[in-house]
Amino acid sequence: MHRLISLVTFFATTAAAIFLEADSEGIIDNADYLIVGGGPAGMVLAERLSRDPNHRVVLLEAGPDTFNSTLQNTPAYFPFITDDAVWDYTTQPDASLAGTTVSMRQGRAVGGGTAVNGMAYCRGAASVFDEWATISGNDGLAWESFFQDFLDVSHYVDDPNSEYEQVIDTAAYGNGPLEVSRGGGLSGFEIPFARAIEQELGIHEVDMNDGTGIGIDRGVATIFAGNRTRSYGRTAFGPLMASRVNVQIVYGAWVSKIGFASNRAVNVTYQSKGNARTISAREIILSGGAINTPKLLMLSGVGPRDQLESLGIPVVADRPEIGSNLRDHGVSIVQLLVTPEVLTYWQWSANSTEESLAREQYATNGTGPLGWAEGFIYATFRIPDSVWEGLNDTHYNSLPRDRPHAMIQYASIPFIASVNSSSVTAWAALVQPASSGRVTLQSSEYRDAPLIHTNYYGTKADRAAMLWTYKKLREILNQDPVRQLIVEEFYPGSAVTTDDDIWAAIQKQTLSFFHPVGTVALGSALDSDWRLRGLEGIRVVDTSAFPFPTTCHPQAVVYALGNRASKDILEAD
Ligand SMILES: Cc1cc2nc3c(=O)[nH]c(=O)nc-3n(C[C@H](O)[C@H](O)[C@H](O)COP(=O)(O)OP(=O)(O)OC[C@H]3O[C@@H](n4cnc5c(N)ncnc54)[C@H](O)[C@@H]3O)c2cc1C
Ligand SMILES: *[C@@H]1O[C@H](CO)[C@@H](O)[C@H](O)[C@H]1NC(C)=O
Ligand SMILES: *[C@@H]1O[C@H](CO)[C@@H](O)[C@H](O)[C@H]1NC(C)=O
Ligand SMILES: *[C@@H]1O[C@H](CO)[C@@H](O)[C@H](O)[C@H]1NC(C)=O
Ligand SMILES: *[C@@H]1O[C@H](CO)[C@@H](O)[C@H](O)[C@H]1NC(C)=O
Ligand SMILES: *[C@@H]1O[C@H](CO)[C@@H](O)[C@H](O)[C@H]1NC(C)=O
Ligand SMILES: *[C@@H]1O[C@H](CO)[C@@H](O)[C@H](O)[C@H]1NC(C)=O
Ligand SMILES: *[C@@H]1O[C@H](CO)[C@@H](O)[C@H](O)[C@H]1NC(C)=O
Repeated sequence: MHRLISLVTFFATTAAAIFLEADSEGIIDNADYLIVGGGPAGMVLAERLSRDPNHRVVLLEAGPDTFNSTLQNTPAYFPFITDDAVWDYTTQPDASLAGTTVSMRQGRAVGGGTAVNGMAYCRGAASVFDEWATISGNDGLAWESFFQDFLDVSHYVDDPNSEYEQVIDTAAYGNGPLEVSRGGGLSGFEIPFARAIEQELGIHEVDMNDGTGIGIDRGVATIFAGNRTRSYGRTAFGPLMASRVNVQIVYGAWVSKIGFASNRAVNVTYQSKGNARTISAREIILSGGAINTPKLLMLSGVGPRDQLESLGIPVVADRPEIGSNLRDHGVSIVQLLVTPEVLTYWQWSANSTEESLAREQYATNGTGPLGWAEGFIYATFRIPDSVWEGLNDTHYNSLPRDRPHAMIQYASIPFIASVNSSSVTAWAALVQPASSGRVTLQSSEYRDAPLIHTNYYGTKADRAAMLWTYKKLREILNQDPVRQLIVEEFYPGSAVTTDDDIWAAIQKQTLSFFHPVGTVALGSALDSDWRLRGLEGIRVVDTSAFPFPTTCHPQAVVYALGNRASKDILEAD
């Protein structure tokens, strides 16, 4: 009866607009499902859970609604998004990198990371998901069943103006709301780079969205084919909810605390322009991403007891695993100066003739480099077992055969220093690293950034793997036909040749791929039904829940994870 009355009030007081500012009138104060975070996981959950008009669903997002932002909608601009739409986090000095700190910025907008990311759409090796199913006890995550979730959330449209052939397994795409298409056009670097990889590694082009883990990918990306603008959580799932009166997406709402009555989560408090508001909920689902979800749990008293007590936070549940198992793809870079024929950031930013041409092409019909996600070829591959000989490695030697160890990719922008010439930055990453880091709190104040301890290449086996991969990348860049395009290796430079010097160069220029996962993992912190073990009324569905990283970029998997979890939640309730 109580539920019926509040539904009636709710319907009577809300307008049709589902996107609301945090200080608006009419925000529901008692939800069935309260979702914290509007990233890909949160947006899919909000859409799926609100299909039943009897479910009152509220999603709270700290960041703004940047739906009309040119910076975000234009693919080539993504590296330059460093405004209000990101949490501008920097990591702690990493001892494994001789003290280097790196940017770990995270999306902070309706759409989360998908509003600001590099748009690569890649699912990777099937055995990752089979292993997740085993670890979590959730059979739905095994590739054979999880595949349906990928089909449910996305569809592929070929770019009508595409300039090259691409291997696409059309059976791997369904008719879900998220549109994916090609990553870009031809800058002049892609094909020579792909040829050099084929020659050096003996691998070939594949579609990494059908369960294939190893090969060369010409890049599927979350870009609308017709106008080459960003396709993301907001554009794919927002419109489906537009006419629903039982769902609200509230932006500018920074959740500072989850309230627990004994071991049951009962409400969340959010901050907006100096005011606090509390919403109670039957079920709370955290989708704040792998850095902010463990932070919010710890602020609310769920985490390692000693750390919480040292900060004066009352302990609700002692959970040492919260914040641990932070895994990311660290990337170590090689910056190149290339011939002016290679169309890079330099042409469309530094040369006014080229810049106006690029703008005109993009405005007329979405063509030209502004619609490209900055260069798009990547390759994933195995490292020879001999690299770990004598290291007593148990991690790498036990990975299934479909699992790549490493990835190389490039972007047509300078990463280290802007240079007065056409420039490309290539990088090497370990995609199944052995080492993990940790997220902790620096204080009990919700506004303070968390402490992010990366621990990249933290084991001997990781270091051997990275050194081999980085050297292999430089060898590939020294092959015909890509070699002809390179004027100079700007970083680390041709004088860097010994293993010691190469290792120092790796340590100095390692960055995050922005793929953190694992901090509230299935199988340890979470049970098979996405619930925090030992607590009630609270689940976690986002990259925090990944037990370990996928073999390429994670966003494709986050959308599918949201879809799978929404089915599980509806079934369980
Ligand atoms: C710069 C960058 C480039 C990337 N490039 C790629 C790429 O090319 N391909 C790819 O696959 N992946 C890429 N990624 C990673 C990908 O975007 C993320 O893995 C993905 O978005 C994670 O989804 P999520 O739902 O777990 O969390 P997020 O996308 O991080 O979303 C979490 C949301 O929750 C909100 N939130 C957090 N805490 C709170 C709180 N306390 N109160 C209210 N709201 C809160 C955040 O503001 C955010 O909007 C990139 C990420 C970044 C940052
Ligand atoms: C985007 O711009 C359109 C056209 O100006 C406007 O109607 C709409 O309200 C804007 N949307 C947002 C979320 O700002
Ligand atoms: C681009 O095209 C898509 C699909 O037609 C559309 O939904 C979107 O609004 C367009 N975006 C812009 C910025 O024009
Ligand atoms: C939120 O829940 C906690 C725990 O039951 C309770 O102490 C607190 O008063 C609640 N907050 C509000 C504003 O209702
Ligand atoms: C700018 O680009 C135009 C067109 O490609 C070219 O003719 C011109 O030489 C370039 N200017 C400079 C300074 O490189
Ligand atoms: C797109 O517009 C440009 C002019 O800006 C033109 O040169 C080009 O031919 C057009 N391409 C297509 C495929 O329509
Ligand atoms: C090798 O690794 C195993 C398992 O991690 C460990 O128990 C053993 O002590 C190691 N041996 C040596 C020589 O380091
Ligand atoms: C960049 O190159 C141009 C053309 O060679 C030259 O005129 C200019 O001074 C250079 N700028 C810088 C910052 O080196």
